[in-house]
Amino acid sequence: LKKEEVEVTFVKANGDRIKAKGKEGDSLLDIVVNNEIDLEGYGACEGTLTCSTCHLILKKEDYDRLPSKPTDEEMDMLDLAYDLTDTSRLGCQILMTKALDGLEVKVPATVNDARSN
Ligand code: FES
Repeated sequence: LKKEEVEVTFVKANGDRIKAKGKEGDSLLDIVVNNEIDLEGYGACEGTLTCSTCHLILKKEDYDRLPSKPTDEEMDMLDLAYDLTDTSRLGCQILMTKALDGLEVKVPATVNDARSN
């Protein structure tokens, strides 16, 4: 079965909009890495849930329709992120599905690498 291509738009704090392509099953971290999107410090722990630098802010409607709810481990790590919101998630824990094609997420202005606290 061929994996469907999906598109994600990352909106930086300065308003820059970066459109990126990925495949179903990619995490948002994968998409940042595979597209070589230049986000300072993003994804420092490479998806091992130990850094919180992959913090992204979703629209409420998107947050609510994500197929997976945050685990306790993700919640603990999110607590360490700067600019935490009610619709924050870690990009390495969000896997793209066809239904999420066209997703738009905000990249917070500052990232916090929990490993350096
Ligand atoms: Fe470190 Fe997601 S990349 S927690």
